[in-house]
Amino acid sequence: MFNADYKKRREDLRKKVGNGLIILPGNNEAPCNYPDNTYKFRQDSTFLYFFGIDQPGITGVIDAESGEEYLFGDDVTMDDIIWMGPQPGIKELAAKVGVANSAPYKAIKEVVQTARKQNRVIHFLPPYRHDIMLYLEDLLDIRVAQLKAHSSLPLIKAVVDLRSVKETCEIEEIERACDIGYEMHTTAMRLCKPGVKEQYISGVLDGIASSYGCMTSFATILSQNGETLHNHYHGNFLETGRMMLTDAGAETNYHYSSDFTRTVPVGGKFDNRQKDVYNIVVACHDHAIDFAYPGTTWKEVHLNVCKVLTQGLKDLGLMKGNVDDAVAAGAHALFMPHGLGHMMGLDVHDMENLGQIYVGYDDETRPSEQFGLASLRMGRRLQEGFVITDEPGCYFIPALIDKWRAEKMHTDFLNYDVIDTYKDFGGIRLEDDILITKEGSRFLGQKRIPLTVEEVESIMNE
Ligand code: GLY
Ligand code: MN
Ligand code: MN
Repeated sequence: MFNADYKKRREDLRKKVGNGLIILPGNNEAPCNYPDNTYKFRQDSTFLYFFGIDQPGITGVIDAESGEEYLFGDDVTMDDIIWMGPQPGIKELAAKVGVANSAPYKAIKEVVQTARKQNRVIHFLPPYRHDIMLYLEDLLDIRVAQLKAHSSLPLIKAVVDLRSVKETCEIEEIERACDIGYEMHTTAMRLCKPGVKEQYISGVLDGIASSYGCMTSFATILSQNGETLHNHYHGNFLETGRMMLTDAGAETNYHYSSDFTRTVPVGGKFDNRQKDVYNIVVACHDHAIDFAYPGTTWKEVHLNVCKVLTQGLKDLGLMKGNVDDAVAAGAHALFMPHGLGHMMGLDVHDMENLGQIYVGYDDETRPSEQFGLASLRMGRRLQEGFVITDEPGCYFIPALIDKWRAEKMHTDFLNYDVIDTYKDFGGIRLEDDILITKEGSRFLGQKRIPLTVEEVESIMNE
């Protein structure tokens, strides 16, 4: 059973924000192709974190000065009961999570109007759903286009502070999500045979996630064209000689995520060229866990891993020159144009809606504008309790290779004649989820998804 202390979380938030009124809208149902045919409901993660209620149409308000808390939402009608069954009322929901005051949804207007008349600060987070934007526009008289600029930095920072360090109950829940991820990825490995259509395997994985109550934690990425980083096209039949990249994870019933990637040879046997590149990515992956500990920055870990990648590609004849200089110049980003990982929790890219600059960076560690490094979502100093993904990769993207070659990019470090012979290679990414501990870091999940060449070939040929 998931046992979060929502009252304490709200008390901590109230203390951090210190003044004004905090408005935290939960999500509404989202229509798909007509109003009554909705996407599967997904609650807003910050609302879940502070109120724990997984139902649409509720807004939470916290008075940061008086400590008064409210939940606004409508009780179901007889018509709703007939079609959807009995549902707990807003008073009952509020009582369950220790909120003293509850009222119908529209009653929030009066509370907000009073606060505005008193010139009190009203804190809200940058909205990402259009219905919530219209709702806030109506409540606050701030045009939709201006909402992001008027969102509250103190509230963003307070939420990031609290949600970044995972509580024991959250870590346990993430481990559950990882265990579902294990089942998804080992199933994908067993199904990866020539002639099987990618969409069949991705559908089976989505089904495994759903069978545990929730959805995948993001739209499954699965393709024999793994050089496209987020490839959602699943229409190919798997071919011998290719590798299948699967980036997929699950969400638990309490909405905590996992996010894993494995890349395996179609049919179960790596050829020598695949093995060479694969082993470089394995070395990068293992290197990250060796270097991740409280006090170091994830940006340093990322740059160290880029050096391991560069050394490996130099040994294969694809890169040349001084490794440190190549990484400082960003030459390796031809092969790894993304960052080493991101925070993970209630969102697979945790809190990305609050602004990556606040989640992954701070006054000390600033984002880079260099190609590749600019895509590093998480750079800042690590703390015990952070959950991060470790996801190095090596890709051969023909269009990018051609562009860089034509522009004579980093010719001191890149052997384009050799690189050209890899344009049919595809891409490899390996991803695990790690917890920063007191002493260092550890992988999350009870069982490790096969990673090494031997482990992968063994499970695929059982
Ligand atoms: N699942 C997308 C990613 O790994 O960031
Ligand atoms: Mn992933
Ligand atoms: Mn990831």
